[in-house]
Amino acid sequence: MASTSPESAAAGETNDSIHIRRLELSDHERGFVALLSQLSACPDLTASEFATRFAELAAQGDDHAILVAEDPSASDRRILATGCLFVERKFLRGGGKVGHVEDVVVDAAARGSGLGLRIVRRLVEIAREAGCYKVILDCTPELRAYYAKCGFVEKGVQMAVYF
Ligand SMILES: CC(C)(COP(=O)(O)OP(=O)(O)OC[C@H]1O[C@@H](n2cnc3c(N)ncnc32)[C@H](O)[C@@H]1OP(=O)(O)O)[C@@H](O)C(=O)NCCC(=O)NCCS
Repeated sequence: MASTSPESAAAGETNDSIHIRRLELSDHERGFVALLSQLSACPDLTASEFATRFAELAAQGDDHAILVAEDPSASDRRILATGCLFVERKFLRGGGKVGHVEDVVVDAAARGSGLGLRIVRRLVEIAREAGCYKVILDCTPELRAYYAKCGFVEKGVQMAVYF
């Protein structure tokens, strides 16, 4: 499920005018970084910086997947939504795997039309296909209802150390 690999037919979604596929290098020109800045501080990256990080993530192979949504009929093909799945490989559970959903954001102009739901559900499907025994994520209390709609249940407490 490399974020850089060509999207297989099975992993894509075309049941809507909005297409969900894997991140591509050319998405740097389609507003991918600007979209992330709607989620958190995300200064622009040069094409070279973007390519370097893209290659680092590609080296993680099937353990890292970034999905993006676009309208293929739009002239600029701007990225409308994104979400990431990181697969953690464990010793416990017989060498089990855990999926971590990260960096889910839908462009402000495209919210409320089910795109966030589609992106997260697809990430969960990929985790299941990869053999993960669970998928987890962190969110604010305000997003409980949204992630419940995506099939998540509340579990445990989030803690953090920021640097
Ligand atoms: C949260 C976010 C990804 C939702 O995307 P979206 O495309 O607007 O969501 P959807 O249209 O797919 O909504 C799916 C369902 O969740 C509900 N929902 C969406 N956002 C919600 C919210 N903030 N609070 C409660 N319910 C919400 C919708 O009403 C919908 O329910 P319905 O099917 O009964 O109508 C989007 O608002 C966003 O990008 N927010 C800013 C970034 C962010 O907070 N990301 C999450 C980081 S953890």
